[in-house]
Amino acid sequence: MGEGAVSDRVREVVPDMLAAIHEVLERHQVTEEEWFGALAFLGEVAKADELILLSDVTRTSVLIDELSHAGDGEAATASDVEGPMYTVEPPFRKKIYEEYEGMSPDDDVLFVRGRVTSTTGDPLPEAVVDVWQTGPAGGYDVWDERQPEGNFRGRIKPEDDGAYEFQTMLPKPYTVPTTGPTGRYLEAMDQHPWRPAHIHLKVTAPGHRRLVTQVFFPGDPYLENDTIGAVKPELVRPVERENGHLTCTFDIALAPA
Ligand code: BEZ
Ligand code: FE
Repeated sequence: MGEGAVSDRVREVVPDMLAAIHEVLERHQVTEEEWFGALAFLGEVAKADELILLSDVTRTSVLIDELSHAGDGEAATASDVEGPMYTVEPPFRKKIYEEYEGMSPDDDVLFVRGRVTSTTGDPLPEAVVDVWQTGPAGGYDVWDERQPEGNFRGRIKPEDDGAYEFQTMLPKPYTVPTTGPTGRYLEAMDQHPWRPAHIHLKVTAPGHRRLVTQVFFPGDPYLENDTIGAVKPELVRPVERENGHLTCTFDIALAPA
C-alpha cells in the first residue's frame, strides 16, 4: 500500500473508530479519572511489550484474521492468529527440539506430516514450513530456563512432491503470560488465561499467499474456551498412535498471491 493509500484509509477508518469510542464513553458516562486510568493502562501495556497479547486476549486478533482471510476460498487451509511468540529464522531441521530436564517419560513424541500444495493441488517443493510451539513442560523456550534457546522451533523444506515431516513432542495446554498488565486485565474481566495445546505454522511459497495457522488436537479441555478464541474446528486434527509414537497429518494448501 502506498503512503497516499495509507492516509486515505486512516481518514476513512479513524473517524468511525472515534465515533464508536465516543458513543461508548457517553453511554457509560465515563469520568475523567476512569479515562486517565484507561490511558495509563494502555501505556503500561505498550511499555511491557504486550500490545499483541492484549489484542489476542480481547479476541481482536481473531477478528482481524477473519477479516483478512475472508477471500481465501474454501480450498485454502484455514489461517489463524500468529500470537506474540514467533521468533524469526529458526534453524532448518527435521527434529525441532532437544530433550531437557522437566520432560517426563510419559511425554509423547509426535511426527507431523503432510503435503504443501497450491489450492489447485500442485506440489510446492519451494515452500518453507516454519513451526513453533511449547514443550510438553514449561511452555515456550523463552519462558523456560531449562530449555535451550530456540527449542521447539524450526523450519522444514518439503520434498519434490510437496511432502514434509517434522519430529516434535505433543504440546500441552498452557497459560498466556499473566504477570504483566494483560494479566490484570484478565483478572478484572474474570477471564481464564488458558490456551489449548497447539502447534503454530507459518508457510511461505513463491507466488502464493503466506499462511499463518495453528493445529489443535481432539479432547483438549480448552478447545471450547481458548482464552484468545482461536480454535477453528477444521484445524483440530486427529493423532494416531503408531509404534510407540504419535502421528498427525496436516496437509497445507496455499492460495495464489
Ligand atoms: C500463542 O499462541 O503463542 C499465544 C497467544 C496469545 C498469547 C500468548 C501466546
Ligand atoms: Fe502458542
